[in-house]
Amino acid sequence: MMFKVQISGTGLYTPKEKISNEELVDSYNKYVDEYNLSNSSDINNGSLEPLEKSSSEFIEKASGVKSRYVQNKSGILDTSFMRPRLIERSEDQISNLAEMGVIAAKEAIKNSQVDIKDINAVIVACSNLERAYPAIAIEIQNELGIEGFAFDMNVACSSATFGIQAIFDMIKSGSITSALMVNPEICTGHLNFKDRDCHFIFGDVATAVVLERMNGEIHKNNSYEILGTKLLTEFSNNIRNNYGFLNNSSPEGIGKSDKLFHQNGRKVFKEVIPKVSNLIKDHLEENRLSAEDLKGMYLHQANENMNVLISKYVLGKEASRDLAPVVLDEYANTSSAGSIIAFHKYSNSLKKDDLAIICSFGAGYSVGNVIVRKIA
Ligand code: COA
Repeated sequence: MMFKVQISGTGLYTPKEKISNEELVDSYNKYVDEYNLSNSSDINNGSLEPLEKSSSEFIEKASGVKSRYVQNKSGILDTSFMRPRLIERSEDQISNLAEMGVIAAKEAIKNSQVDIKDINAVIVACSNLERAYPAIAIEIQNELGIEGFAFDMNVACSSATFGIQAIFDMIKSGSITSALMVNPEICTGHLNFKDRDCHFIFGDVATAVVLERMNGEIHKNNSYEILGTKLLTEFSNNIRNNYGFLNNSSPEGIGKSDKLFHQNGRKVFKEVIPKVSNLIKDHLEENRLSAEDLKGMYLHQANENMNVLISKYVLGKEASRDLAPVVLDEYANTSSAGSIIAFHKYSNSLKKDDLAIICSFGAGYSVGNVIVRKIA
């Protein structure tokens, strides 16, 4: 017997600190002046290229990002540091990711009205894990007093939709009845703030989703039946980060810029749009649904121009902001959490029986789509 599955609650943790494009660009340009001055003899004799300045107009036009929330502002803007300064925690303190994840999880649990003792599993699905082990998910499970099992998974920006499919399949088959998925993302920790091409891309946040077996005709407020999920991966080096446990065995590479996020943004833009659009169209077709019936498109939040083109291709016309809400202007790219933030903030405007999608895409390449129908 197959069970029906619902999303019964979502939660969001937003960091207190915020950096506008103007503040970020001021700091980057100060770093450029300092770099060019301290390397002036090499630049003058032609053996080194000077760094070029960044511009907030370019950032907003090319990406749609206006600001981002961050776990630590002062470290990022300090031109002698240029990364979030997070004091190392002892082993008896809660980890950074678990701490923000628990805040989002508590809101999701409250919104879902699920009894903690009915949750059987916790999955942390995100693009950067703070340590190798024990799993952050097990730490969150412990903090919340959840019985059952927990594990971490990483599919970069698509982690949340892949996490939803994993839980959807477990609940559908009957191996569990309810699970919590958490997406804690401290994306500023892997961002190269000295790289003009991408220093503006990411922000920090955590989201959480509670999924439950549907209980006959009894529907919870603000709940959404999952009608189906569809995932796709295809290997690409165009978004990559070589940080990993073997770095210690290759000390010659430690501290090099390939151990942080780097990408070929133009290629990503061109290659990913058709993959995402086709996957959404195929998925709707497989479920005998029409794009015209969609009342919500909660898309991955990496680049506003990309989302405009994806919705155009799927719908045959441009989507309004009501249909495809934008959160990246305020939050920037928050990796796996982006589409969940959009769903969390905007899905309450859907009416009973409205159809919507939650769609993610990113490194891998990876693409994931979840079709939902509001049930109450
Ligand atoms: N400030 C001012 N100018 C900048 C700049 C900055 N910070 N960064 C780049 N430029 C310049 C470049 O030097 C280039 O100048 P040129 O035309 O004189 O050579 C020009 O702007 C265009 O650069 P390009 O890198 O082609 O920009 P773009 O329009 O492709 O936008 C991204 C860059 C990253 C915003 C865009 O490619 C993107 O978002 N791609 C998708 C990435 C994505 O979704 N990744 C997933 C991550 S999980």
